[in-house]
Amino acid sequence: MTWAPYGPYWRQARRIYLNEIFTPKRLDSFEYIRVEERQTFISQLNSLAGKPFFLKDHLSRFSLCSMTRMVLSNKYFGESTVRVEDLQHLVDQWFLLNGAFNIGDWIPWLSLLDLQGYVKQMKALKRSFDKFHNIVLDDHRAKKNAEKKDMVDVLLQMAQDPTLEVKLTDDCVKGLMQDLLTGGTDSLTAAVQWAFQELLRQPRVIDKAIQELDQETLRLHPLGTMLAPHCAIEDCNVAGYDIEKGTTVLVNVWTIGRDPKYWDRAEEFLPERFLEKDIDMDGHNFSFLPFGSGRRRCPGYSLGLKVIRATLANMLHGFIWKLPQGMNTEGISVEEHYGLTTHPKFPVRVILEPRLSSHLYSPK
Ligand code: HEM
Repeated sequence: MTWAPYGPYWRQARRIYLNEIFTPKRLDSFEYIRVEERQTFISQLNSLAGKPFFLKDHLSRFSLCSMTRMVLSNKYFGESTVRVEDLQHLVDQWFLLNGAFNIGDWIPWLSLLDLQGYVKQMKALKRSFDKFHNIVLDDHRAKKNAEKKDMVDVLLQMAQDPTLEVKLTDDCVKGLMQDLLTGGTDSLTAAVQWAFQELLRQPRVIDKAIQELDQETLRLHPLGTMLAPHCAIEDCNVAGYDIEKGTTVLVNVWTIGRDPKYWDRAEEFLPERFLEKDIDMDGHNFSFLPFGSGRRRCPGYSLGLKVIRATLANMLHGFIWKLPQGMNTEGISVEEHYGLTTHPKFPVRVILEPRLSSHLYSPK
């Protein structure tokens, strides 16, 4: 869906996401999964107390496990099917290749040569994902009356609807499943990781409220430096520039979020700025667009915020966070590694110390 042009297919996919997948009722029905996964994550962190470790590795696993359970019930992992590490690798590859600068996209006569080998890698990735998707679809079809419905069950149910404007083929279901897995995992890992990378540089803000933290994190480090490429569907004029129908439009939300015209001390991490300003993140305020805006705004917006807020709150409440010996706050880099989502280039190693009594860290 992310790469689908505006038209009947995209409109239908969007309707399915908004009316069937991301409804408050459906998201509430997955709350128990988010709670269980969070408890497991916090308990794993607790077992690492006192030793330096990279937060990213554990966050990625936590995001992937939470998303796979919500999307496809997470029961396909094992030696005979797919290992979690393998799926993580496929998701990482997907992001890498989606964010890659492929010369053939910009100089079409070079595309046949596939000079950087990206197209070959994309085809291989598609084959690997396809194998996994087929296992998931076959299994869901065999158990179509499962008591607890996951997101794939909902998509397969929609595919049976004869009134749909565009037929939902297996390829479409695979694509929508893929969007849910990839859209959910990397964004959540990067957002929480950035919050910590910045927080450890300025421990005083750890004491401040959580809500302002995620707003400020997404302002300074929007997960997509650019929104997904948009296509002008009619001739228009923006700020005096004529944009012809069919033009690819790249919106640089990173620059907007750091524009000194809209933000005081724009380069600094100051969550408290949101205490004074009532700025929403839902795409109405054009100085702050971490989820995009309008029709193509991120459909996973409310799920994303739910997971990030609860995870950050639990991590901050549960542990005292420190840097390994010999490292100081100036040593923490905020350099960015660009891709479809932007991660810290040099992830920080951390040490934590539990703050609460030990029985609170065991998974239920
Ligand atoms: C902090 C969390 C997240 C952030 C910051 C984020 C950000 C974004 C952004 C900037 C876009 C592009 C919007 C545009 O081009 O105008 C987008 C699109 C999208 N996101 Fe997210 N996202 C997050 C979480 C999620 C989650 C949890 C899911 C699904 C489970 C998801 C699924 C999607 C999909 C399918 C699209 C494509 C929408 C379309 O093309 O119409 N996102 N997201």
